[in-house]
Amino acid sequence: MSKDRSQPPRRSPRPRGPRHLPFRPAIERARRFHARQGVICEELEMMSDGLPAFDIARNGAFVRDLAPHLRVHHCLEEGWLFPLLTGRLPGHGETTVNLLRLKQEHMEDCDAASDLGDHIRHVLEDAGDVQAERLAYQTRALFRSLRRHVAFEVEVIFPLAERLLTADDLLCLSHAYDRSEVADAAYLLRH
Ligand SMILES: [Fe+2]
Repeated sequence: MSKDRSQPPRRSPRPRGPRHLPFRPAIERARRFHARQGVICEELEMMSDGLPAFDIARNGAFVRDLAPHLRVHHCLEEGWLFPLLTGRLPGHGETTVNLLRLKQEHMEDCDAASDLGDHIRHVLEDAGDVQAERLAYQTRALFRSLRRHVAFEVEVIFPLAERLLTADDLLCLSHAYDRSEVADAAYLLRH
């Protein structure tokens, strides 16, 4: 049978899938947020190294406000990134287990940051003394845990998101990070 040459040849449909989508900005935003958590860890480490001297003017509000600030990061992940990833993963696999563990770590880190904040609030509001040994222990435990957590998300979770999430997923994620960008960046500038 001869071909009908009066019609333009049909193009094969454009392949659809994450590899062909403009996904970078959302994950780049997420990486930027994590880079700022890295800066927070450096601040905590410097503060811990300086103990028993403690500069309340430099570090007081930074530590006091840390827990609510971390919640901004956790809400972005638990409210957007993790559910989007779960939606692209069939069944309960290793990633599901990892995401549950990461949520648990969020809670533990937030509790640790709250304890640290309570300690500093007491110093700021009641003019109490800094308990240097306790503060050093709390601070070291927190920044070590935060660093481990952030490294896992950067090395394992973000690449997975780049592979699995669709354009719509990434657009949602991008908007979510955009909405928190100013508040997140302002925390480090303010303190
Ligand atoms: Fe996280």
